[in-house]
Amino acid sequence: MRIIRVDNYDEMSKKAADLVASQMILKHNSVLGLATGDTPIGMYKELIKLYNEKKIDFSDVRSFNLDEYYGISKENNQSYYYYMMNNLFNHVNMRKENINILDGKTDNVALECLNYEKRIKEVGGIDIQVLGIGVNGHIGFNEPNVNFESETHLVDLDQKTIESNSRFFKSIEEVPKSALSMGIKTIMQSKVIVLLANGEAKAEAIAKTVNGKICPEVQASILQLHNNVNIIVDKAAAKLLKSSDK
Ligand code: GLP
Repeated sequence: MRIIRVDNYDEMSKKAADLVASQMILKHNSVLGLATGDTPIGMYKELIKLYNEKKIDFSDVRSFNLDEYYGISKENNQSYYYYMMNNLFNHVNMRKENINILDGKTDNVALECLNYEKRIKEVGGIDIQVLGIGVNGHIGFNEPNVNFESETHLVDLDQKTIESNSRFFKSIEEVPKSALSMGIKTIMQSKVIVLLANGEAKAEAIAKTVNGKICPEVQASILQLHNNVNIIVDKAAAKLLKSSDK
C-alpha cells in the first residue's frame, strides 16, 4: 500500500484526478472503475477542468461504476446513475455506450450481475479503480462480513450505512435497504486502486484498513493484499495512522 498524505480535501481531489488523468494519457481507451458518494466529487470537478483544458480526452474511455441502489430508477435523483451524469458524464465527451452502471431496477438480479462481470472481462479488466470508504470500512457496497470471494452481487445495507446515507434522502425510511455492488473479488482484480478518504469520520476505518487484521468485518482490509493500492488521505482521515505508515 502507498499512503499519500495531503493537507486537505482539495489536495486529495487534485492528486486523485492526476492519477486518473495519467492513466488516461497512457492509454486512450482506459477502463475506469468509478465511485460515488461525497468523497470523489472534487476529483470529478478536477477531471472536468483537465478535460476543458484539453489535457484529457474521454472519447475512447470505458467506465464501470462500483454500485447502485436496488429498486431505484436511473431518473431518481438519488440514483448513482443520476449522480454520475450530473457530476461527470454530462460535462465530458464520454460516449453513452461506454458507460456501465448497474441497473437498480433490473427484474433479473442474477443476470444483471453476471453480465456486468462479463462486460468487465470483455474489455480486459479495470485499469484504475477509484474507491471511497464507508465509516464501517465498506468499499463499494460490500458491507461487513460479505464474502471476500464475491463478484458483482445484491447486498443488504448495514444499518450504519443506511444512517450515514440518509443525509441524501428526505427521510431515513426512503433509503434503499439493498444495493447492487461489484464484489471484493471484482475490485481486487483491478490493476490499480486509488482509495480516497477525508475527514475524521473515516479515521478509524482507514487505520483498520492499513494496520488492522485482514478480516471480512473490515472489507477494505483486504486491500493490504493488492499490489498496487494508493490511499490518498487528508490530515483528519490520517489521524490514527502511525507516522511510520508509508
Ligand atoms: C457509499 C458508497 C461507497 C462510498 C461510501 C462513502 O455508501 N456506496 O461507494 O465510498 O459510501 O461515501 P462518502 O464518500 O459520501 O463518505
